[in-house]
Amino acid sequence: MKGLTGKTALVTGSSSGIGQAIAVRLAEEGCNVAINYRSDSDGAEDTRRQAMEKACKDVEACGVKALLVQGDVSKEADAIALVQQTVDYFGQLDILVNNAGVQTESPSEAIEADSFDWVLGVNLRGSYLCAREAIQHLLAHSRPGSIINISSVHEIIPRPQYLSYAISKGGMGNMTRTLALEYAAKGIRVNGIGPGATITPINDDWTDNLDKKAEVERHIPMGRAGTSEEMAAAVAFLASDEAAYITGQTLYIDGGLTLYADFREAWSA
Ligand code: NAI
Repeated sequence: MKGLTGKTALVTGSSSGIGQAIAVRLAEEGCNVAINYRSDSDGAEDTRRQAMEKACKDVEACGVKALLVQGDVSKEADAIALVQQTVDYFGQLDILVNNAGVQTESPSEAIEADSFDWVLGVNLRGSYLCAREAIQHLLAHSRPGSIINISSVHEIIPRPQYLSYAISKGGMGNMTRTLALEYAAKGIRVNGIGPGATITPINDDWTDNLDKKAEVERHIPMGRAGTSEEMAAAVAFLASDEAAYITGQTLYIDGGLTLYADFREAWSA
């Protein structure tokens, strides 16, 4: 895609799932990638191996580099260090993908305060802190840049039993739009994607069970869950110059999940 070769991208939580696919895809498009992980260094190494394989069909001629950066995005010092280490190593940062995310399940009346804070801390505070650091770098060097927030269909669809997650993704939507408006004139674009049900480790409870998977897919208009690679393709597009005039948008990639699937039949007539 246009405009990605030679850019530097930091992808948070990219030792697995959607983040891993994003880092690999951006490397394939010619970006240098900083692969953030919290504790799964083996997963991060696997991301690096896949990224280099895709990017460097001819290793001798390959200009793409990948760096592993450990850190917990919910901790301010770590978020600062992630961006700093990326800039120190590559000399620049052009693309930030806020992908790290967690969720917990509980009836809303029983959520422990610590659990609530943890989900908001990683999904929302962590995304903000990384965005803040990236924006400071871009402004200081008068560079254009792109921030992509990995949100969810639950940015707009309520999710009982997952209140903290739904709040975090709803908040992420307004963070996307607010930052986009605030920095549009500086050439910093801020967008999001809203994945639907996607086959990744966060969904181990149903992806590994054929009956449960069929039950999930029954609710999806296109009749199947999405893949990490399908999410990564949209991120590459939004980061590229093909999307040069797009800012402040969340693109839902969900097989039609946000289309009110219950209206497939005329039950309201
Ligand atoms: P995943 O569990 O494979 O990925 C989440 C990643 O975030 C993991 O690598 C994890 O180590 C990392 N992480 C967690 N806490 C962290 C922290 N404090 N600091 C740094 N990294 C941390 O699951 P998946 O599905 O790939 O999730 C990626 C993003 O996609 C999340 O933001 C999630 O909310 C979002 N998403 C996923 C959907 C799905 O169906 N899989 C649907 C909608 C959104």
